[in-house]
Amino acid sequence: MTIHRMPPIVATLEPSNHPYLNGAWTPLHEEVDADELQVIEGAIPSDIDGVYLRNTENQIHQPLGRFHPFDGDGMIHQIAFQNGKASYRNRFLRTRCFEAEQEARGSLWGGLADPVALAKRPGFCAHGSLKDSSSTDVVVHAGLGLSTFYQCGEGYRFDPLTLDTIGPAPWVPIDGISAHPKVDEATGELLFFNYSKQAPYLHFGIVGADDKLKSYRPVPVPGPRLPHDMAFTEHYAIINDMPMFWDEELLKRDIHAVRMHDGLPSRFALVPRDGGEIRWFEAAPTYVLHWLNAYEDGDEVILDGYFQEQPMPPPRTDAPKGFGSMMAYLDEHSFRSRLHRWRFNLVDGTTREERLDEAIMEFGMINGRFGGRPYRYGYSTVSEPGWFLFTGFVKNDLVTGERWTYDLGPGRYGSEAPFAPRIGGTAEDDGYLVSFVTDENTGTSECVVLDAARIQDGPVCRIALPHKICSGTHAYWAGRAQLARGA
Ligand SMILES: [Fe+2]
Repeated sequence: MTIHRMPPIVATLEPSNHPYLNGAWTPLHEEVDADELQVIEGAIPSDIDGVYLRNTENQIHQPLGRFHPFDGDGMIHQIAFQNGKASYRNRFLRTRCFEAEQEARGSLWGGLADPVALAKRPGFCAHGSLKDSSSTDVVVHAGLGLSTFYQCGEGYRFDPLTLDTIGPAPWVPIDGISAHPKVDEATGELLFFNYSKQAPYLHFGIVGADDKLKSYRPVPVPGPRLPHDMAFTEHYAIINDMPMFWDEELLKRDIHAVRMHDGLPSRFALVPRDGGEIRWFEAAPTYVLHWLNAYEDGDEVILDGYFQEQPMPPPRTDAPKGFGSMMAYLDEHSFRSRLHRWRFNLVDGTTREERLDEAIMEFGMINGRFGGRPYRYGYSTVSEPGWFLFTGFVKNDLVTGERWTYDLGPGRYGSEAPFAPRIGGTAEDDGYLVSFVTDENTGTSECVVLDAARIQDGPVCRIALPHKICSGTHAYWAGRAQLARGA
């Protein structure tokens, strides 16, 4: 392995006892390129070709107030596979806020848990006082990487091979784009939404395969809302209006306090992708962070996602003093997310719901070729009770109800494991799952590659990374064809 280190960035973060600034969540400030990665176990498959990209929150500067892990600065990690070899690199996104804080040599904005008055500069995003850290998700569209921020940031583009930041995508509207735009591999389109504190509060847009904004339309809702993710089918985008959002009275005093609004249902907008009339459906109240997939089935639109049984969990009593509430909101076992199916009947306007698995899980991936189309397999993560740390994966067969799991082992924490299709493969699960693992036992990190058809067998290979990386979440697989601009 050869490692090339970049010049150091300015970092001012000081040691603390914060549970999300230590252990597997210790921020990484080093940026490197590494070739000819060392294989720890097995052999790198020669039948995958592309890059695994992961966005990660890595706090650089000493926080002005109470740090929340979603405040961390966006860093993209990449492992590239070709001809049975693998290389790695990582870079901070050079956002406006990153550059401003490098110049100021310290934090200029408070975070999610802080009062707005803490910000030393005008803020960004739907919240209005935050730093746009561009640290939530990452996709590849029109041959370029796109990093996003959950509070509706500018959407930063980067070269998916070199990880050099290019800048905000030119088509991003004034209200930004939310964390989870969707790439429809069948059409090459990018579907996105945003939310804001100004009426009509929600918008949906489509960027064509040619990288041009194709449509942008309001999806009016009664007030400011906080949807995190969207889904799509061949003909519809599905935008949600869940009953958990900012308290409107407190918002008038610029206090951003999220609560469940009793008596309100969950609402779903089916927005025709070709511009037709929006149809709304209602369902049992809940909050959903992430959807797995959606598709059309005769008179019904099927939506699969992770239903939270307790969206407002009580503070964790086992958390370090002062962190009980924050840690509960980051813990799947506290908000109890379970794989769930909503069926929207286009004929009579009703919704039917059913649970697909009783286990606690979230952060699901599918074979991207089946996005928005009938599909069979979902690959979710399971987590350590009390913590935002992924301990393994579960594969659900949504046709037979069968399930398989793989546990990473004690002290080993993974990230979302997107599906990398095998070259020449045609079956839905003919490919691999790729994840980064941070190992607290050894203080190292590695990449694990699982056979998607048999995840229970464990990794087909484990590849050493050149440094220990911070635990992270959202990831994306881009095959070589997707990496060609305009593909
Ligand atoms: Fe997310």
